[in-house]
Amino acid sequence: MLVDQNILTKKRSKSKSKKMYIETYGCQMNFSDSEIVASILSEENYISTKIIEEADIILVNTCSIREKAEETVRKRLNFYNSVKKRNKNIMVGVMGCMAERLKTKLLEEEKLVDIVVGPDAYRDLPKLIKKVEDGRKAINVILSKEETYGNVSPVRFLSNGVTAFVSITRGCDNMCSFCVVPFTRGRERSRNPNSIVVECKELIKNSFKEVTLLGQNVDSYLWYGGGLKKDYDKANDNEKANSINFAKLLTIVAEECPELRIRFSTSNPQDMTEEVIKTMKSYSNICNYIHLPVQSGSNKILKLMNRGYTREDYINLIDTIKKHIPDCGLSMDMISGFCNETDFDHAMTLSLMDYVKYDYGYMFKYSDRPNTYAHRKLEDNVSDEIKSTRLSEIISKQRQHSLENNKKKIGSKFEVLIEGISKKSEYDFFGRNMQNNVIIFPKQKAKIGDIVTVEVESCTSATLIGKIT
Ligand code: SAH
Ligand code: F3S
Repeated sequence: MLVDQNILTKKRSKSKSKKMYIETYGCQMNFSDSEIVASILSEENYISTKIIEEADIILVNTCSIREKAEETVRKRLNFYNSVKKRNKNIMVGVMGCMAERLKTKLLEEEKLVDIVVGPDAYRDLPKLIKKVEDGRKAINVILSKEETYGNVSPVRFLSNGVTAFVSITRGCDNMCSFCVVPFTRGRERSRNPNSIVVECKELIKNSFKEVTLLGQNVDSYLWYGGGLKKDYDKANDNEKANSINFAKLLTIVAEECPELRIRFSTSNPQDMTEEVIKTMKSYSNICNYIHLPVQSGSNKILKLMNRGYTREDYINLIDTIKKHIPDCGLSMDMISGFCNETDFDHAMTLSLMDYVKYDYGYMFKYSDRPNTYAHRKLEDNVSDEIKSTRLSEIISKQRQHSLENNKKKIGSKFEVLIEGISKKSEYDFFGRNMQNNVIIFPKQKAKIGDIVTVEVESCTSATLIGKIT
């Protein structure tokens, strides 16, 4: 009898599993966080669903980086409202940067929202859900000195099964004057290297082939036993002697996980060291690719942005990278129309682009963000029209450089990791080479997850096109 009872209880608890629908906006860190949240809730018997109507909880992981990103989420909230009208029992939670930035205001402004949870409070979600089940609204937006979710094993529901993100730092101390991230993600802290290696090994076990180590500013990684980066000075001699910087972390991951291709993002020009570049060069499994946001080519603007480097410093860094790794892929972030930007400053940006000839770029119009230094102290005095004109000039220059760089690769052969089926043709695969170029080629007998040699035959500005050799 007792045994039967147990089986019954087990069955009942299994059938009681609930469904979570998680939607993610913004940076790679948000995508990585959503997988952490899925893991935390899977412990509570939640399984992930792609069908919003059948969800017990809708969670939206939000971005505050530009006004437009927030507008997109507001529109989605309107849509969730219509879903909630049809099913009153669905809970709606807002996570991520908007939750942190707007706090209780979100509950006041968006009546459908039940839960507001900031990036450091995801472990509290089960409790917040209980509170809502008891008929109350729930909020936790406390930022942490310690939280890195080091021991949470992400549920990789967003992954293609081949490449994955592993976060190594959280928060940012850089205080770029335009950026809301230090306010929404708190102060910088690094994750225990052992837990990073454990997660990477788990990826290998699950047949993943590539990892991207993630942080707002990976070069600033510093493990000395836990705690905020800014408190490193308070560490004792032993902790300091045994501390691990980003170059050391890269070495450890490269040596412990020779089967994995390793990428990292994002590098900050003011913190990237020659040691990191030399480490990249020393290990064949570390990809020859650096995303190195510059934001502007003008010293005046870089200073107003509080970026911590000059145009000349940046050019020196590019030269150092090219000296050690001549075929290194390079991409950037650029902002057009920051406060006080003149035609001359914009011309400096274009000329810097001509010098570097990036392979790829993420380019944005400046968007004034509440609370930032730029919002409080500088005037958003470049008209939207000029911002747009300058942005389109930057974009068209980048397109031209991407095309030129890609054309030079015609005839070359690359080791390509196959990530999936091409969006344009079911007969083709797409993958990336070490330099992060996207390459499309006929499937032949290869499979997703294979590394194949592809010869480039033609290209567009965005893609290389070739065949397996
Ligand atoms: N270090 C971060 C940067 C996050 S923000 C990282 O991991 O990528 C990503 C990019 O958004 C920035 O590099 C910058 O180019 C852009 N950005 C940030 N704040 C912005 C703003 N207020 N207006 C326009 N673009 C912005
Ligand atoms: Fe933002 Fe600058 Fe940090 S862009 S995320 S404050 S490096």
